[in-house]
Parts: sequence; C-alpha cells; structure tokens
Amino acid sequence: MSSTTTTATWAVVTASPDETRDLGRALAAAAEPGAVILLSGPLGAGKTCLASGILAGLGGGDIAPSPTFVLIREYDGRLPVYHFDAYRLEDPEQAADLGVDEYFYGDGVSVVEWPENLGSYAPKEALWVRIERPAGARSTSGDQSDETRRFLFRASGQRAVSLLEEVRRTWPTQAS
Ligand SMILES: Nc1ncnc2c1ncn2[C@@H]1O[C@H](COP(=O)(O)OP(=O)(O)OP(=O)(O)O)[C@@H](O)[C@H]1O
Ligand SMILES: [Mg+2]
Repeated sequence: MSSTTTTATWAVVTASPDETRDLGRALAAAAEPGAVILLSGPLGAGKTCLASGILAGLGGGDIAPSPTFVLIREYDGRLPVYHFDAYRLEDPEQAADLGVDEYFYGDGVSVVEWPENLGSYAPKEALWVRIERPAGARSTSGDQSDETRRFLFRASGQRAVSLLEEVRRTWPTQAS
C-alpha cells in the first residue's frame, strides 16, 4: 500500500471579487503543466471571476466575452490556458467531439466551468472547486450587497494535491 496522499480538501472564504481574483492568482502561481481546475457552483457564484484571476496570474490577459457557441478558448501565458464554459453543453459526447482530452491531458492549464456537464469526460484527477454563497449571509432583499463566497476545494490525484498544498501554503491565513 502506498502512503502517498492522493486526496485533500480545503475551504476558504473571500469577501470580494478582488479577493476571489487574488485566490485565482494564487492558483496560477502554483499551477504546473497539465493542471485541471474544475469550477462548480450556481449561476453568479464566481466561477468566471476565479477563472479570470487564474488567467491573469498566468499572464494570459483578460477573459474574452464568449459568443454562445464558443465552449473552449485558448490563451497564451506562462503556460497555455484553456478556459471551458460547459454551461451550454447539451451532451457529454459533444465534449469528446471537441477533443477535450487533448486539452485535459496536455501541457496547459485547463479551467472548466460547469464540469458536471462533462459527465464521464471530467478528469478523475483534478482540483474541484465548489463555490457557494454562504446561506446565512444571503441577502433577503435579493440585492447584490453580499460579497461573501466560500470555496470548497477537493483535490484528487497527486498533482492536484500538490497544487492545493501550495495554494494553502501561500494563501494569507485568515482570522476566524
Ligand atoms: N467574493 C466574490 N467573489 C466572486 N464574485 C463575487 C464576489 N462577491 C460578489 N461577486 C459577484 O458575483 C458575480 C460572479 O459572477 P461570475 O460571472 O464570476 O459567476 P459565474 O459563476 O461564472 O456564473 P455563470 O454560471 O453565469 O457563468 C459577479 O457579479 C461578482 O461581482
Ligand atoms: Mg461564468
């Protein structure tokens, strides 16, 4: 039996979109070729916000507003960055037709929104990030004043575990 840790979890809270982008930059700084980062959470959770921090941190510029039919966009940074928005994917087979494996198992950094829509094509070894608006903090009036977001990380596989450990190490410790 190997004693190598192949899963790890971590939770962190951000208080603003800027802090979420900083978290993305921390992920970018720790990312190595072949990293796969899967971002789940409801509409408006902050997936694209975190992805924009990852992209900026890798020196890939800003996320381009996508026409509805574009599912994958490629950026050049320190490493190639592949940003997928699978929201409109109708069938996981469509992902296979797009050649997602070429991206996931290549040398770039893959960042995926709505990874659930990939079904079995979502890599097993990846860093899953579930983004939530803490229930207690939700505004009853439905306004946009609350900027608290909770990020629940779950790393599967040695590469993702190393990535998560590095982010934890570099992220400022929060007073609780
Ligand atoms: N702490 C925070 N982190 C990230 N976004 C926040 C935060 N607080 C407020 N927001 C707001 O929440 C929204 C997040 O939008 P974003 O496009 O990133 O969501 P998304 O998860 O990608 O949604 P979609 O499923 O529609 O793609 C933005 O309007 C942003 O300003
Ligand atoms: Mg989005």
